Amino acid sequence: MGVQISPSLLSADFARLADEAAAVEDSADWLHVDVMDNHFVPNLTLGLPVVESLLRATSMPIDCHLMIDDPDRWAAAYAEAGARSVTFHAEAAGAPVRTARAIRALGARAGLALKPATPVEPYVDLLDELDMLLVMTVEPGFGGQRFLDVVLPKIRRAREAIAGRGLQVWLQVDGGVSEETIERCADAGADVFVAGSAVYGADDPGKAVNALRDQAERATARASWRAGRAAPR
Ligand code: DX5
Ligand code: ZN
Repeated sequence: MGVQISPSLLSADFARLADEAAAVEDSADWLHVDVMDNHFVPNLTLGLPVVESLLRATSMPIDCHLMIDDPDRWAAAYAEAGARSVTFHAEAAGAPVRTARAIRALGARAGLALKPATPVEPYVDLLDELDMLLVMTVEPGFGGQRFLDVVLPKIRRAREAIAGRGLQVWLQVDGGVSEETIERCADAGADVFVAGSAVYGADDPGKAVNALRDQAERATARASWRAGRAAPR
């Protein structure tokens, strides 16, 4: 897989979720849905019933980002509902391998998310159990925050760990990803880009997705981590 863009509905109009999904249907790869429980993060968004409705209202694959306590208990239900990717936080999971296996057993992709201060090293031996690693580039909880450059070295180390093991694990970034910052993320090794305000704050969300993709693809083509890359011109 090359560059993938996953617009975050957190910055969309919650009263018109189906329309907001449709606005990026032709340009985006995924729809990123942020589930927040007011415990793991201070914000409260939506849960399984809304995800179920959204699944009926769109044909786009849903990329669920669970920012909730006790994902070991709740994550599988999102996969069972039909989310194609379910990501839970390492800081909240008591049994990440069991939870990832439960998600995969239901036919969804399993993702593990790391907050900015959570190191990647304790989780590299788990990469084989995962389809995606999400490195948060803001503190989870709210859209529209400023991108944290301090996380870039961790993205590089995560990319090295994935490549070093010969794995196909996707590396997602989420938080403050915009035209200003997406190239730095791609250069560090990210290949799945979540963008909330940069997409839904734009006049034309579809056009914003295309612009972000072009930038990420150009930066990826230049990036040193990319094996078999075309020579830079
Ligand atoms: C934040 C969420 C993000 C959020 C990103 O905790 O996980 O998905 O929507 O929003 P932006 O792109 O505006 O930082
Ligand atoms: Zn998110």
